[in-house]
Amino acid sequence: MVAKALEESDPEQERYGKLLEALSSKDHLITIGSKAPIFEAKDRALGIARYGADLPAENPVYAKIVRSKFPHAKIKKIDTSRAEKLPGVIGVFTAEDIPGINEIGALVPDQPLLATDTVRYYGDSVAIVAAEDPLTAEEAAELVDVEYEPLPAVFSPLDAMKPNAPKIHEGGNYIPTGHFLVKKGDVQKAFAQPDIIVVEHEYRTQHQEHAFLDPEANLAIPEKDGTMTIIAGLQFPFGVQMTVAKILGLRSDQVRVIQAATGGSFGGRDATGPQAKAALVAYKTKRPTILTYTREESMTEPLVRHPYIMRYKTGATKDGKLIAVKAEIFVDAGAYETYSSGPAWRAATHAAGPYQVPNVHIEIFPYYTNNTPSGAFRGFGNPQVHFATESQMDELSEKLDMDPVEFRLKNILRDGSATATGQILDHSVGLEECVKKAVKDSHWKEKRAKYKEMKGAKKKGIGISLMYHGASTLSEPGEGPDYARSTIIVNKDGSVTYRTGIIEMGQGSPTAHTLIVAEALGIPLNYINLERFDSRTHPDAGITVASRGTYMGGISALIAAKTIAKRMKKKAAQMLDCRPSKVDFKEGKVSAKNQPSKKTTFKELAVRCHEDGIVLSETTTYIVPRIYWDNEMGQGDTYHAFTFSATVSEVEVDMETGQVQVLKVTPVYDLGRVINRLGAEGQVEGGVVQAVGYAIMEELVHKEGLVTNPNLADYYIPTSMDSPEITSNFVEHPFKRGPYGAKGFAESPIVGTAPSIANAIYHATGTRVRSLPITSEKIHLSLEKGE
Ligand code: MOS
Repeated sequence: MVAKALEESDPEQERYGKLLEALSSKDHLITIGSKAPIFEAKDRALGIARYGADLPAENPVYAKIVRSKFPHAKIKKIDTSRAEKLPGVIGVFTAEDIPGINEIGALVPDQPLLATDTVRYYGDSVAIVAAEDPLTAEEAAELVDVEYEPLPAVFSPLDAMKPNAPKIHEGGNYIPTGHFLVKKGDVQKAFAQPDIIVVEHEYRTQHQEHAFLDPEANLAIPEKDGTMTIIAGLQFPFGVQMTVAKILGLRSDQVRVIQAATGGSFGGRDATGPQAKAALVAYKTKRPTILTYTREESMTEPLVRHPYIMRYKTGATKDGKLIAVKAEIFVDAGAYETYSSGPAWRAATHAAGPYQVPNVHIEIFPYYTNNTPSGAFRGFGNPQVHFATESQMDELSEKLDMDPVEFRLKNILRDGSATATGQILDHSVGLEECVKKAVKDSHWKEKRAKYKEMKGAKKKGIGISLMYHGASTLSEPGEGPDYARSTIIVNKDGSVTYRTGIIEMGQGSPTAHTLIVAEALGIPLNYINLERFDSRTHPDAGITVASRGTYMGGISALIAAKTIAKRMKKKAAQMLDCRPSKVDFKEGKVSAKNQPSKKTTFKELAVRCHEDGIVLSETTTYIVPRIYWDNEMGQGDTYHAFTFSATVSEVEVDMETGQVQVLKVTPVYDLGRVINRLGAEGQVEGGVVQAVGYAIMEELVHKEGLVTNPNLADYYIPTSMDSPEITSNFVEHPFKRGPYGAKGFAESPIVGTAPSIANAIYHATGTRVRSLPITSEKIHLSLEKGE
């Protein structure tokens, strides 16, 4: 409610005037909602797209990283002499060779590019070898003699918090920047009420690996003028620019970052270390440097999804009204903070689920361990807490003897509801519609009853979960107000160049921007050329994360397009002898409203504008309005908009072996508005399959810090044989601050799906596994124990 007061002056209106009218336009839209192929999709399908490892380099050197063979150790000595003597070796570089600052931590300055005196996980980077060919580099890396003194190590947050635990960083193992409290009402009082029905359990989640298509492959080119060019598969080029500049002691504009085709990222390429390592070698050797990770390196060096230990207690009245949620969450951050505080904030603020709960006490505690650094991964803390909260909802509905759908519907967030942080949702809450549609489309009622009666060696189950996911990084402590930029140039022939700092990594946001531009300029999509990212030309649009690409970048695209349209309409009004407000742009044609004989074309109009010196290029910035957030109590507004979903999953379980087949997933999303239908459907299919892996298959197994399955033979991701039938549907409740009403979307499918699979497995087997992944082994053991 305090948040309301802040918005009264409507700074958006002041800043953007009428340019934002189209945000929640109810006009008949032509391009928005249609199906457009994603940037480079055809090249990828044909195998001609150039990924990082396909780039041509002139007279390159090949780099290989020397990695720690201990989870925690002091470095006593690094002897590079044997490696340097190997024919073909050009040099071996350590922390001492770094001309700038040896620091790559994203939020907390706790991570060196190359270790100085301590290594903190298996695989921590100690040195880099440069050689004439990749095999020599590999051989030489083995010849670098590092003398270690092993230190006691710690592998779980519960051990890391003990007072006598080995200290991983100077300040201890606790990460205070990632501690958050969300406190509303009085949970103690609520749980003390006489008639309250309570469930209380611990839930655990695992390390999940992004397993994107192409492992990190980086080309760094030292230019003659002392600048550095980086070409690589990227998610966060502006971060790469800053990190490389810092490592090399350059200004950020002396680092040029160009994107190669990027085969997925899912948060994994938010890490900037791989590019900085290539840049260091290029700087030292003065030759183009190729640094390509093996799959094993890709799976063990950069970020993985955080394991969470979540202790939940949830209470409701006998008639099924939720009264209290208490949660204590312990995070395994791994050896460095990387991105642990951000997900902790997202987890804490979403941990009560998409429900109206009057009493909430959520607290999250991240700890360093000597495991692989955890970090950004699609969903950013939210898949973990949704597994816990949606399991709790099912367990509680069973105790209340209520249908899980009926119980949820009594408590869901609706227009005007308050979230756990006290944020009033005054718009775009389509959750009830999602639930009703998912239930109807999946034949929930019939199947729920029918599967219950199944006998025999194989049983089926059907389960539901709801979810909500805030778009962007709005109130996250340490983040400034969110912004995005776009550049549009209408060329003299009426073709349109579009550039954005939002990155295309297969998710399709920049492609969605082009649909927005086409709609706003009233031109066919094929007039627009979406240019590959290059930091020399493309405006900074922030980091492409947090389901903000289409939403935030889409608004800046819209503002740029509307700004240009306004100028062009003024000229058109002269040409057509009508008022500017009467000029209509549609499918490349320009006409005066209600006077069809007065017409020209967009292309002709572009020519005339150029002749008149009317500037048809524009770089615009969109900044979100400020909101209120009290970090002490975790109360206030967290995100401008939430995406909602309901997901029904059906499984078949072999009661002998515990083997699970996910048969069918029926998710329904309220994403505000579909911009590119093909892109949205692709996000659903990819996210659901990734969630199947998260739910029942994937775990990056750590044994005393050592990853025992760092390859795609032993780390199982779903294949087409494991993929369920997926029927996706969207309900569209336009968001008043989204481009044509769109909210963020990309992460939602992985957040919402895994808990519905867990609940379906319980429905089939009658045994509840409270840790992910729900493997056949765990089901088998659980059935044996008769739990
Ligand atoms: Mo993401 S996990 O918001 O890169």
